[in-house]
Formats: sequence, C-alpha cells, structure tokens
Amino acid sequence: EKGTYPHYMLKEIDEQPLVIRKLIQKYQNENGELVIDEDIINAVKQADRLYIVAAGTSYHAGLVGAQMIEKLAKVPVEVHVASEFNYNMPILSEKPLFIFISQSGETADSRAVLVQVKELGHPALTVTNVQGSTLSREADYTLLLHAGPEIAVASTKAYTAQLGVLSILAAVLAEAKGHTLEFDLVQDLGIVANAMEVLCNAKEELEDIARKFLSTTRNCFFIGRTMDYYVGLEGALKLKEISYIQAEGFAGGELKHGTIALIEDGTPVIAISTQEQVDLSIRGNVKEVVARGANPCIISMKGLETEEDSFVVPTVNELLSPLVSVIPLQLISYYAALHRDCDVDKPRNLAKSVTVE
Ligand code: F6R
Repeated sequence: EKGTYPHYMLKEIDEQPLVIRKLIQKYQNENGELVIDEDIINAVKQADRLYIVAAGTSYHAGLVGAQMIEKLAKVPVEVHVASEFNYNMPILSEKPLFIFISQSGETADSRAVLVQVKELGHPALTVTNVQGSTLSREADYTLLLHAGPEIAVASTKAYTAQLGVLSILAAVLAEAKGHTLEFDLVQDLGIVANAMEVLCNAKEELEDIARKFLSTTRNCFFIGRTMDYYVGLEGALKLKEISYIQAEGFAGGELKHGTIALIEDGTPVIAISTQEQVDLSIRGNVKEVVARGANPCIISMKGLETEEDSFVVPTVNELLSPLVSVIPLQLISYYAALHRDCDVDKPRNLAKSVTVE
C-alpha cells in the first residue's frame, strides 16, 4: 500500500535508506561480518571471468557492480545487455560464471540467455528481488535483494539494492581471494544509508531543480565519467521513461565526438561528479557545453563541491557513490514528470516486467 504517498515511486525512493540497512542485516552473520553462502562464493571464486547479463535499470546496476567486483576482487567482469547477448554471444572464457541481475526475475530477454547458458553447462547466479521467480528457479544460485515489492514501473529501490548486493558480493569475493579491503563495508554501507536519508529530505530543493532545468525542455543530457557515467545512464533512463523528456547519458569524454552538436542555448546538461580522479575532467566537459549555451546542473559530492554546483550529496566511499548520487536523479525525474502531468507510476507503453523477447 502506498499509504499517504501520492505515488509508489516516491514511497519506494523514500524506502531506500531502510532497504540498505535491512540488506546489511540480511547478509551479516552473528559476528556482524558480511557473508554469502559458501557454495555461491566457491562457484564465483572458481570462475576466471564473470558475465553480468541484464536489461534496463538492472543493466545499469550491472555496470556499477562490475567495477566494484573488478576493483575489489580483481576478477575480470563483462556486462552485457541481455537481448543483444542472446543473439551475439561473445567468445567465452574457459571458466565463465553468469550473473543475471533482475528485479522481477521474469525478464524474458535475460531468461533466453540463461537457457543458452544452461545448455552450455555454465554456472549461473541470479540476483533478484523475487524469491521463486523464473530466473531464480532456473539458475544454480540466487542472491536476494530483500527490497520488498517494487510496484512503480520505474525501478528505484531495486537499483540501489542491486548495488548493495553487488558490493557485498565484491567484498566477500575479494576476501575469499585473499585480498584485504582497505575499508569496512558494513560501516560504509551504513554511511550510505544515512546519506540516502539526507537526500530523501531534500525533496523541496530537488523539486526546484526539476522546475528550473526541466519544466519546458524537450531534451536533457547527463554526463559523467566512470561510476558517474553509469549513474548518468540510469538518470537518463529514469527521466525519459516517466517524464517523456528525451534524455541521454554520455561519458564526458565522448561528448566532443559527436553529441556536443546537439547542445543549444538553454539545453540542460546534468553533470555528476563524485569521483576525485575525474572531477577536473568532467568539470572541463561542463565548460565545453556551457560555451555552447548549455544550462549546466552540476551534482557533486561533498569534498569536491564548488560554488557553481546546483546540488551536493554527502560524502561516501567513492565505490558506493552511485547508491547516493542516483537519489537526486530519481527525485528530479519524479518531479519533472509530476510538473508535466505524467502518470508517474504507470508511464505509457511500459509494463513492470517485460516477459516477451
Ligand atoms: C526501468 C526499469 C526497466 C527494468 C528492466 C529489467 O526503470 O524498470 O528498465 O529495469 O525491464 O527488469 P528486471 O530488473 O525485472 O529484469
């Protein structure tokens, strides 16, 4: 039930701090350490390469998860769009393990890949919100999101829960492989949950940003580098699916290779900067679009902020930054859709789970 909330989407956005806290509990043992079923970790540990397969928002979570796993566990990870992988399977490594990320566990495109993977005899792990779903039943292993039912068509809390589970998988795998982590993931996820709460309390400010940048525009660009690029892809998907504003996410460095031709006077460009290593580069990209008339909205992380920024998210572990930087993007999309009188929870032409290929 959505209770006093006008929309499920807003309720589900607000649930995110709780979802992360619950997730930590679900994956903790009695000593407070993060654990994953031994069978799963052994299977993942044996793989020489991981293949993440997913669609839409879950694919965007996969892009971030791959970075977490590569950085912490030092295992190569490929991320694939399910509907493409199905027809264009790359040459696989000797010992691949497949990770299907799917909120519903029912996405037909992902299932079609799982069927092929099983025929080839490779191990598969499903990361899903729905116990007993098709992808969960047909894979060898399942990790649950524990996010509670997600009703709004636009995925929000499932995305952050997917990132949470993938970060736990990355950390537990890293330790199983003998790599010592330089941070305490339980503590850092707790900091994330607190930061999420702060962001969920910044609705008025984010509604103003939506009004200022998106109330009349026909299009909008999201730019970022590394982690921020992946979050930008998700921000663009959220915005287009519920507000029908044409939105695209780009890697900051790719702009000059074509997309910058689309920048006109007043075009909103939402730039995300949470990664110290690329902060200057992305700010350079902002200057390039501003010189062509863009209306820049910079969302940065505390510690990297400057006076020109429109919104600043609290500091968290850089590897976990997508869990927090996505929240202003979700809320900006929500308010942009609201201001345009769109049906937020049931956008046109879309279904909650896509059970056709
Ligand atoms: C976007 C959205 C979709 C889904 C995609 C995959 O907000 O919800 O892009 O992420 O259809 O769905 P699942 O995760 O159920 O496989």
